[in-house]
Amino acid sequence: MKLLVIHGPNLQLLGKRQPAIYGTADLATINRDLQRLGTEHGVLITAAQSNHEGQIVDLIGGARGRYDGVLLNAGAYTHTSLAIRDAIEASGLPAVEVHLSNVYAREPFRHQSLIAGVCRGQVTGFGAASYRLGLLAMLSLWSAEHAAGPASAKAAPAARSTRPARRKSKR
Ligand code: DQA
Repeated sequence: MKLLVIHGPNLQLLGKRQPAIYGTADLATINRDLQRLGTEHGVLITAAQSNHEGQIVDLIGGARGRYDGVLLNAGAYTHTSLAIRDAIEASGLPAVEVHLSNVYAREPFRHQSLIAGVCRGQVTGFGAASYRLGLLAMLSLWSAEHAAGPASAKAAPAARSTRPARRKSKR
């Protein structure tokens, strides 16, 4: 599985930017942790950061056919960017929205996400762990949709074949 991780505006400042809200880990550390977790789970990760809305739109547009999913912290564009929302929808790729802070415990203008409706889910408020949880969420989606596990493949026919037989022998 190939995953594109996009960090939006001002996230290059992580570690220095309002550490009480965003934590002390810098972007390189977050990316390194994600790479490590990705390697453990067979996920190839490419990470990019941009302060520019159009560039984020281009990154998402270019991901189609090259990646299997997008993990996105759109920063402040989360609350304003219809263009990023449209790019996610147009890409057809599963996307997971990530925030370090709990946007719902902050100012009202952060309570609205224009991209949430086109993402498969949202992880918000766990600091740097939000990215790791987002990666695991993406993996869970991936395995549910691409690799029907042995449990789901075998359990259903077994249940179907035993139940009617038992009922038949009681009658
Ligand atoms: C953020 C939350 C946004 O509201 C804010 O504009 C950011 C960071 C977060 O990760 O908590 O830049 O996306």
